[in-house]
Amino acid sequence: MNQHSDHSFDDPFDPSALLKWYVEMGVDECIGDDPIDRYAASQEMLARKQAAQTQAHAPSSPMPSRPASAPQQEVKATDEMVHAAVAAARKATTIEELRQAVVAYEGCHLKKTAMNTVFADGNPQADIMFIGEAPGADEDRQGVPFVGEQGKLLDKMLHSCGLEDEIGDRSKVYISNVLFWRPPGNRNPTQSEIAVCLPFVERHIELVDPKMIVCLGGAAAKAVLGHHEGISRLRGRWFDHASPRLSRPVKATALFHPAYLLRSPAQKRRAWTDLLNIIEKLEFL
Ligand code: URA
Repeated sequence: MNQHSDHSFDDPFDPSALLKWYVEMGVDECIGDDPIDRYAASQEMLARKQAAQTQAHAPSSPMPSRPASAPQQEVKATDEMVHAAVAAARKATTIEELRQAVVAYEGCHLKKTAMNTVFADGNPQADIMFIGEAPGADEDRQGVPFVGEQGKLLDKMLHSCGLEDEIGDRSKVYISNVLFWRPPGNRNPTQSEIAVCLPFVERHIELVDPKMIVCLGGAAAKAVLGHHEGISRLRGRWFDHASPRLSRPVKATALFHPAYLLRSPAQKRRAWTDLLNIIEKLEFL
């Protein structure tokens, strides 16, 4: 520890002292499951640089190139984890039972780093169900989907097309995500994480039984609609979401994710057109 630090910790072997030090240094979230030894990585990089310089003088002995640090290993979902998710989801006969099943499920490693399980918000009796990608930091802290900056934009969008009477009043919509736990550092969800959460999402749709599903962003659209085109090709189109336990296929579409609209405000015009089409379609369902 820095001798000149203003802060002294009584017992250097107390793990809470390390935690306090992290907090004081501004470390406030975990961004990976496994620690990365940056010192070893920089040593390795230095060694490779030196080797490359040596090689420049001896071109006949090529060095195999390797990444500076091993890429983070994806935690793969096993068949058992997916089967356990399917079994737990199928057992649920109400939305509350499903919420409890998701909270109790231990097959998604994201749960270890998340503060909360983020299940849903709004009215489960609503005609329209929005499905986003995954909770971010604010959602993780509060346990509610779409409450951060992106959620604020979503609320404004829903208010402007009449789906929210007051901004933030979610009584006419139901909102959830494909993942129920925040991926560390808001990275993209992996296929394995989606695979273990999807059985719960499918059951969620069956139990809510909405008239319409709107997927927010490409990741949600791919997972729920099962189409592999990008969001620019999926938005504005209509699909039938079918499942054996739904009484009839549910109309489904995709909309640009609010995060994308915050980054690319010029696309808001297209999102607005899509929203108007959604409202018009909803009236006839
Ligand atoms: N982005 C999402 O996809 N979902 C949330 O709940 C928040 C941000």
